[in-house]
Amino acid sequence: MKLSGKKELIDIVLNDIKKRGGISFKDFMDYALYYPSLGYYTCDKEKIGGYGDFFTSSELDPVFGQLLAKQFNEIYLNYFKGKKIKLVELGSGKGVLAFDILNEIKTNYPEFYENLEFISVEKSPFHIQHQQKVLNGFNVKWLESIEDLEDIEGIVYSNELFDALPVHLIKKKNGKIYEIYLNEKDGEIVEELREISEDVLTYIKELKIDIPEGMTTEVNLLAKDLIQTIGQKLKKGFVFTVDYGYPSKELYKPYRMKGTLLCYYKHTYNENFYENIGFQDITSHVNFSALVYYGKKAGLEFTGFTDQAHFLINLGLGDIMIQLQEKGDSKSFERINRLKTLILPKGMGEKFKILIQHKNIKNPILSGLKIIPPQNDRYKIEEI
Ligand SMILES: C[S@@+](CC[C@H](N)C(=O)[O-])C[C@H]1O[C@@H](n2cnc3c(N)ncnc32)[C@H](O)[C@@H]1O
Repeated sequence: MKLSGKKELIDIVLNDIKKRGGISFKDFMDYALYYPSLGYYTCDKEKIGGYGDFFTSSELDPVFGQLLAKQFNEIYLNYFKGKKIKLVELGSGKGVLAFDILNEIKTNYPEFYENLEFISVEKSPFHIQHQQKVLNGFNVKWLESIEDLEDIEGIVYSNELFDALPVHLIKKKNGKIYEIYLNEKDGEIVEELREISEDVLTYIKELKIDIPEGMTTEVNLLAKDLIQTIGQKLKKGFVFTVDYGYPSKELYKPYRMKGTLLCYYKHTYNENFYENIGFQDITSHVNFSALVYYGKKAGLEFTGFTDQAHFLINLGLGDIMIQLQEKGDSKSFERINRLKTLILPKGMGEKFKILIQHKNIKNPILSGLKIIPPQNDRYKIEEI
């Protein structure tokens, strides 16, 4: 097949393939999403929202940020009261979620706001520029890499960051696991099964992942590195990871034979990873067992794992909907419909998960985890 998309980016990919005699899928995905100025996330094209390719919860309604702020304020009051507290968002995109959270804290939790230092870690210079406009009026520090973060006492959170990290692609064939590489033959791109790299194999072994025969799936080593870096930087506090994905036990079920890799373009999805390069998003589901396992190695303890519907309802979404219903005007009913989208089963309510981890906090109790979903394969993080 031929690569299609941004000509300049395709030439860069093809040159590297020629130079190195092939590149891993992970390197290809890194080019497609993050090559300076040309990658999907690093170029100056609208990606998130109605004129982009996908919606995030924060684009839909401010309530997502407002209820997260409520949870963060509870943490401030119970574990940091009267002390300085850092709030760090990783991969803040357009900054809409950061705006909703900061606006809510400033309006309703002034003591928390007074003690707050907000840091946005964002890899894309285009998104940083956007955030600087959206967050004008708030005291925000910007960093391009998590490595630049100093020690943190407070809360680190992300929404749809881990699914946007470049992944290794692997395939099990005749009982052996291979890694998928891209090579070029007669002007066409071909996938090749090559010997798996040592660190990918270690990940599979450490997590005791049992991959069914014939399955193609992803290994997200950058997620492992990221959660470990967060664990090292955090001295006391919590980590909130909001994203779609599952524990290992669910993720590698035989009905996901092709894995979870998907492209998003103008609110439709496809599996044509080699088309529209630089114009479309490529994502994969997050392995939450891996975040728990590698987080633990970096000192992060497991607090809880839930979904967006349970989390938001625990924090009072139902009451907000009742108040809107009592108002009874058309605007309130429109908003109720948007809020319903956030909690729909089989939709955003179930698809998006929230993993909470903590460090140096004794027996944490969080309102967002008051009632959790049934502990089946989709929600139970297995002990490894
Ligand atoms: C799917 S967007 C999520 C946007 C936002 N959190 C929201 O809720 O709308 C992922 C964002 O993470 C950023 N990103 C990717 N890798 C990153 C990294 N290693 N450090 C910081 N930001 C990163 C991307 O540039 C992009 O802005």
